[in-house]
Amino acid sequence: MLEDKRILLIISGGIAAYKSLDLIRQLRKRGAWVTPVLTKSAEQFVTPLSVSALAEEKAYRDLFDLTDEAEMGHIQLSRSADLIVVAPATANLMAKMVTGQADDLASTLLLATDTPILVAPAMNVRMWLHPATQRNLATLKGDGVGFVGPNEGDMACGEFGPGRLAEPVEIVVAVEAALAEGPLTGRRIVVTSGPTHEPIDPVRYIANRSSGAQGTAIARALLALGAEVVFVTGPAEEPRPEGAHVVEVETAKQMMDAVAAAMPADAGVFAAAVADWRVDGAGDSKIKKQDGEIPSLNFLENPDILATISQSKSDRPALVVGFAAETDDVIENATKKRLRKGCDWIVANDVSPETGIMGGRENAVVLISDDGAEHWPRMQKDAVARQLADRIAAKLG
Ligand code: C5P
Repeated sequence: MLEDKRILLIISGGIAAYKSLDLIRQLRKRGAWVTPVLTKSAEQFVTPLSVSALAEEKAYRDLFDLTDEAEMGHIQLSRSADLIVVAPATANLMAKMVTGQADDLASTLLLATDTPILVAPAMNVRMWLHPATQRNLATLKGDGVGFVGPNEGDMACGEFGPGRLAEPVEIVVAVEAALAEGPLTGRRIVVTSGPTHEPIDPVRYIANRSSGAQGTAIARALLALGAEVVFVTGPAEEPRPEGAHVVEVETAKQMMDAVAAAMPADAGVFAAAVADWRVDGAGDSKIKKQDGEIPSLNFLENPDILATISQSKSDRPALVVGFAAETDDVIENATKKRLRKGCDWIVANDVSPETGIMGGRENAVVLISDDGAEHWPRMQKDAVARQLADRIAAKLG
């Protein structure tokens, strides 16, 4: 049920806009309050009168409507909702969201808010598959915007393929999922993941074998418990966790800056395999191969993100979790690491090649805290992530 949830429904122009009427009806039936907003082109497909009759609320249309400003300014309109739903979302409105344009009421509301947003796109197959729209989709997902659909099928324009608006009942299910409360609802957690790449010159770099699998699984598990997740990742193949605010970085220094910018947070989970050193003087020109000469590299120490955040006077999250990938004396080294860095927990694992953990799907970890060392059985990285997320939820209360 969606009893007394407030949904701001933005309807943009497209033939599928007629389905928004059924969506309003279904949301109302489940107890939600729906405030409709129409773009100019949406009014070509549905009338403000029918929309507002079904919503039993005024349909908002114009940014410069002074009556609206007297009743409720656009800032308040966007912030008083529990969820903003854009259905249907045209390619044009998605593009505006990506670039942060605010040239009408709908786009201004979308820019002026920090309320979660759920988008249900609907457009012609070619428009949906166009690299520009796919780029916009990836960017919006990285901004933490949720998506439902589009579905594949016959389209009003006579073509077949992905681009049909998700059915109202599917959108309602997605709305319910987006509003579902978990033990971490209202908590903000920063997760680092993946390797870092440290340039040697413009074409070469130093990296490590981290796949980002464990960090991504942790981000997903935290999201599933309702947390707001800022996912700071180095270059990794692993698909990004949907619903997280994704920040892509390459180097340790960039990761440090991104983590600092993401503070304050309730918890930090530092699962990235950060390079300890960077190459001094990695410049703009490629190191040339010269007969008989072997170049030597000088290293500088990278910032230690975990230690910096753990020891921060102003920005330390209530719970800081580090990782320790060790090949020898796992528990002893990890226990020392926890004290040296100043974090609360260390998730330690043995990454000797014979364990198959680095780059694999399974992990066997030891959780080291004030209470000592707790051995978890070998299990899928997803299961380790869920168990860790449960622990974090219990700790943050
Ligand atoms: O020092 P070591 O790399 O073994 O420590 C591992 C832990 O410290 C991991 O949680 C890793 O994400 C974090 N770390 C960091 N910044 C570094 C090096 C490691 O946050 N420069």
